[in-house]
Amino acid sequence: MTNFKDEYKNRITFAIISHPDAGKTTLTEQLLLHGGVIRQAGTVKGRGSNKMASSDWMAIEQQRGISVTSSVLQFDYAGKRINILDTPGHEDFSEDTYRTLMAVDSAVMVIDSAKGIEPQTKKLFEIVSKRHIPVFTFFNKLDRDGRDAFDLVDELEKTLGIQACPMNWPIGSGQVLQGIYDLQHDKLIRYNSTKTIDQSVYDESMEEIVLQKDAGNQFDESKILHGQQTPVFFGSALANFGVEEFLSEYLKYAPAPSYKRTVDHLEIQPDNEQFTAFVFKIQANMNPNHRDRIAFVRIVSGEFHKGMEVTLARNAKKLKLSNVTQFMADERENIETAVPGDIIGLYDTGNFQIGDSIYEGKQTVEFEPLPTFTPELFNRVIAKDVMKQKSYHKGINQLVQEGTIQLFESWHGQEYILGAVGQLQFEVFQFRMANEYNSQIIFETLGKKIARWIRLDELDERMNTSRSMLAKDRLGNPVILFENRFALTWFADKYPNVKLESKM
Ligand code: G4P
Repeated sequence: MTNFKDEYKNRITFAIISHPDAGKTTLTEQLLLHGGVIRQAGTVKGRGSNKMASSDWMAIEQQRGISVTSSVLQFDYAGKRINILDTPGHEDFSEDTYRTLMAVDSAVMVIDSAKGIEPQTKKLFEIVSKRHIPVFTFFNKLDRDGRDAFDLVDELEKTLGIQACPMNWPIGSGQVLQGIYDLQHDKLIRYNSTKTIDQSVYDESMEEIVLQKDAGNQFDESKILHGQQTPVFFGSALANFGVEEFLSEYLKYAPAPSYKRTVDHLEIQPDNEQFTAFVFKIQANMNPNHRDRIAFVRIVSGEFHKGMEVTLARNAKKLKLSNVTQFMADERENIETAVPGDIIGLYDTGNFQIGDSIYEGKQTVEFEPLPTFTPELFNRVIAKDVMKQKSYHKGINQLVQEGTIQLFESWHGQEYILGAVGQLQFEVFQFRMANEYNSQIIFETLGKKIARWIRLDELDERMNTSRSMLAKDRLGNPVILFENRFALTWFADKYPNVKLESKM
């Protein structure tokens, strides 16, 4: 039997970060094809056979052609076990994405080579960059006319503030794409080897390559592992060109699972004997036939055994982990053991919240909290059918625990107020309430507000005005929802001693 201390080293747990439409789904599909998980492209997102669309609420994704949920895909390739954590590309779901990025050890950044760095790429890069994890760059859509390669690399370095190390170099693009030149192994990889090479395009690119070799950054594995340098690849996900080369280099350098910090600033290393893990996502009703709820858990240290007893750090509750699943491709599989780096799914009856830490044994372990967002848009929510209060409350509670939206109440507790970062979160919420909980809801728009938390002992009922609404968050902490900047400044002048926090 292999020891978990050897086994976890072959885990590669990562996410793809990109601006919508850059080709994340297409690249994921190619990786799955290479891993032998799927046999034909077009199976991941609402295209082709629809194999992945395993829950009915994904209908909203298909209607809008966006990816709303984060899912986990696991497969074996070249002696490695790969865990891909998918992240919703739409900016309204960035909160979900940011939390998912806390559970990966490296990231693949996909950039459209005609567009360069786009806003969402930059935002997501900043999040992973804070964790100093390795980022591998794939300039996609080389089969289309793209921007000059030097230009793209230069923009990447300047906009993201990271050193770039091209691993291969394009020879033409679009109609005149001849291939890529592998700078590490000095090898030409032809795009279409049956066509005669276009000498002028080739010569021009060879000059660039000489320049690049002379003046470009030296490959530095240590810098890569510390997130200071990003290896850069060119290719086309759709044409499956340069993907295999990318994958093989990526697997060579991508890091094994790393430590995670606790609230007491301890670093829990993966080879620590004690089993520890944290919940980064909760998703209800993944399968409409089962009405289940799954907590996605990233293992940090030790070995998971089916049936083991753990403690939930938040409330010291003891739980037996018997109903556990792993995410081999799109099949859910029951598992007996799992190791650091793995993502397991725990069937949840309401015990877990996002960010929860669990641990085996007596030594308390509580990991650093996951990042939270300050909502900017607010809506009052009301049940259309007053007779269906039970399903209404159940739906709200479950969807809030899943982290799809944030819940507030008016200070005296008669009204529910929902807070979100983007409008689409409300639409998904409404859709899911109707579809999964059979509860029709009505929104009363409150609009854009600036939320600031205050201390309970500083609260004064007179703070509740038409321009500053007093509310409480899900845990009962007082929050003021300000109409605008002006109202905020006015308040700060009036109550100079009250500390206003933008986060709880
Ligand atoms: P996303 O998940 O990052 O949002 O992007 P996705 O993979 O869905 O790709 C967005 C569009 O870009 C798709 O076209 C896809 O086919 C196309 N695409 C992805 N990679 C490449 C590439 O290497 N070359 C070219 N030429 N196109 C690429 P679509 O028309 O929006 O979707 P579809 O209806 O064709 O599937």
